[in-house]
Amino acid sequence: MTPDTPIESVPILDFGSQTAQLIARRVREAGVYSVLVSPTIEPERLRALNPAGIILSGGPRSVYEPGAPACDPAIFRLGVPVLGICYGMQLAAKVMGGEVRPASHREFGRSALAVRDHADLFAAVPDTTIAWMSHGDQVVSLGATPFETLASTDTCPHAAVRLRDGTRVFYGVQFHPEVTHTPHGYNILHNFLYEVCRCRGTWKMADFADLACERVRRQVGAGHVICGLSGGVDSAVAAALIHRAIGDQLTCVFVDTGLLRKNERALVETTFRDHFHIDLRVVDAGDRFLSALAGVTDPQEKRRRIGALFIDVFKEAARGIKDASFLAQGTLYPDVIESGHGHAGQSANIKLHHNVGGLPKELGFELVEPLRDLFKDEVRKLGAILGLPEHLVWRHPFPGPGLAVRIIGEVTRASADLLRDCDAILLEEIVAADLYRKTSQVFAVLLPVRSVGVMGDGRTYEGTVAVRAVETQDFMTADWSRLPYEVLARVSSRIINEVRGVNRVVYDISSKPPATIEWE
Ligand code: XMP
Repeated sequence: MTPDTPIESVPILDFGSQTAQLIARRVREAGVYSVLVSPTIEPERLRALNPAGIILSGGPRSVYEPGAPACDPAIFRLGVPVLGICYGMQLAAKVMGGEVRPASHREFGRSALAVRDHADLFAAVPDTTIAWMSHGDQVVSLGATPFETLASTDTCPHAAVRLRDGTRVFYGVQFHPEVTHTPHGYNILHNFLYEVCRCRGTWKMADFADLACERVRRQVGAGHVICGLSGGVDSAVAAALIHRAIGDQLTCVFVDTGLLRKNERALVETTFRDHFHIDLRVVDAGDRFLSALAGVTDPQEKRRRIGALFIDVFKEAARGIKDASFLAQGTLYPDVIESGHGHAGQSANIKLHHNVGGLPKELGFELVEPLRDLFKDEVRKLGAILGLPEHLVWRHPFPGPGLAVRIIGEVTRASADLLRDCDAILLEEIVAADLYRKTSQVFAVLLPVRSVGVMGDGRTYEGTVAVRAVETQDFMTADWSRLPYEVLARVSSRIINEVRGVNRVVYDISSKPPATIEWE
């Protein structure tokens, strides 16, 4: 992580693949520290990372395209094994004086891989397996030294190769071992680490915490950091980590928008003020947010007003904190890559995430983002190591605009209170049925629909609540959860019995796409 990290590592030169960080995560899962570095890193800086091996990631370009990213050829002479994946393999071939040609067939998706050498990279991998391919070019030779072919597919004769020549040890795979669509991919990466690089495998997430703290201390020096807490896991872990690194130099700000989940503010106050003894400023801005939303029903207008007011409120709070020049954010790796901000600057820009940009520019702060290299599940592990309570670490995500985008139509204090109660009952039942960790996001939505009901001997004409429960890996696509009927039955009867003003509960059975997870 820092240029003089003393622990054993396997750095990854990031040529802009969407899956580059996934390689790092697999390597870390296997017990070896890994981080993405720029493809133009100087060999000396790479050596300072104490590499046991080096991985060259895939990338969206062709090695012969003008301006395609490249690396210093001296990297192959550092005396540590190099694994080139897809573009990384092709680039290695080009750099070592070999030949890369357009394949007769472009290969995308699953291919049958015939393995003929099980000595190291493919130890304990079956003779035939599946490999995930995504390439138009392929390697024909690696230069003067002949390579050994370890595996092939029908259209790619050299799908995996090995070259040993004096100080050079190079392995190349044309497929992607880091993705789950390559069923033995993890074994192949594990073999590279342990059979080829002879790693010791002593790295743990606790080491990440130490390294990340050291990095924060270096960046911040004697400066003061502000961290906005949202009640979610990412900002909570960022705050806990930064507090461990710099103690009193951190002030946290929590804006109570009046649009939060039940007990959210209390959870944040108990965790951060009472338990961690962090200087926490809670801004009570419920009235301001509700007035800003009065009469507004358009979802985009709600979001716009909430976003603008949030910045105003945060600015006011920040002004009251003396000498703060840094703003901490819980940006995770998927946020970085989705914004096209990878190391190579090459990855396709899929969507601009709300966490990257915006606030700091407005406020003139330098950003501190200690979780930029991590995935959500790694952040949760880190949160547990830092001592955050389990129910915070495993909290389902909650959108910045809060309940406002779950109250369809105008937001009022009464509708927010009503929805908060329904949501709390729903979550209680989900936790009681041991479904909280098995679902990705569960929440209630208040619809602008009244319907006729009967309670006791009387007619009612009351509100409707929708239950939304989804399962997803990345929140870009999601399937609706098949919640057991008994759980739905308990939720429905409790909401109708306990929350005055609701006489009907419906279940949302739409997937994303075409629906989104939130209703607005
Ligand atoms: P959608 O509704 O787009 O949501 O399928 C995907 C994920 O993003 C969350 N979400 C937001 N998070 N600010 C946030 O911080 C927002 O404006 C926002 N809108 C949606 C949503 O809860 C889900 O987890």
